Amino acid sequence: MSIQNTHDTWGQLAKLFHWLSVVMLLAVWGMVAWHEASPKDSEAYIQSIMLHKALGVSLGTLMLARLTWRLINVTPRPLAAPAWQQMVASYVHGGLYLALLAMPVTGMVMSQLAGKPISLFGFFELPQWLTVNKELAGDIKELHEDVFWPLLVLLTMAHIGAAIYHQKIVKDGLIQRML
Ligand code: HEM
Ligand code: HEM
Repeated sequence: MSIQNTHDTWGQLAKLFHWLSVVMLLAVWGMVAWHEASPKDSEAYIQSIMLHKALGVSLGTLMLARLTWRLINVTPRPLAAPAWQQMVASYVHGGLYLALLAMPVTGMVMSQLAGKPISLFGFFELPQWLTVNKELAGDIKELHEDVFWPLLVLLTMAHIGAAIYHQKIVKDGLIQRML
């Protein structure tokens, strides 16, 4: 099997990017859920948000690498399906990429505007490059939590629903291309 994509299937690197993004997304979400469940200002409360931010920045970086790889590589031809389904699929994929980039960007911008540190696992702290503006930080937080997050959840559910539909009903082996 090849590192690169072919006209028929995804290559090893694209598969690695896909499944690593899924695992990291679960971890990013898990950290914020842990944060919200922890007593305010406890050790867990502080550690979990630090990890949420560090994993979120890492996922954003992974998405940039993944998109670059997609742009310089062939993409497999879509499997036979009605034109409207192919169109919906490409909008959902485009929306997933958009949301997976918008989440880390809004996360970083809101932390910067709030003057809160972004530490990469305690090894390195990102420099403060924006002027603190708490009011604007609140607006960006709304984008992070109330716009792009619900969008990401909705598109992910549609995407997984479509994968199950292909597996169980159409039975065209679509999932096999990503395994
Ligand atoms: C793909 C990446 C990311 C995802 C999926 C994500 C997801 C989330 C979610 C689901 C919440 C909670 C929403 C709610 O309570 O309604 C949240 C809150 C938050 N996120 Fe992210 N996030 C990501 C990246 C980042 C990054 C890179 C940073 C900062 C560097 C960040 C900083 C925060 C902060 C400060 C909060 C607020 C926590 C609180 O209210 O105490 N996020 N994020
Ligand atoms: C059980 C979970 C999942 C399954 C079975 C699955 C399956 C697949 C398959 C089979 C493809 C290739 C479609 C094709 O060849 O036309 C694909 C593409 C894709 N998946 Fe997933 N996926 C899952 C979860 C996720 C999650 C959680 C995300 C992100 C939130 C995601 C993001 C994407 C994106 C962005 C593409 C488009 C790739 C491209 O066109 O560059 N997937 N997925």
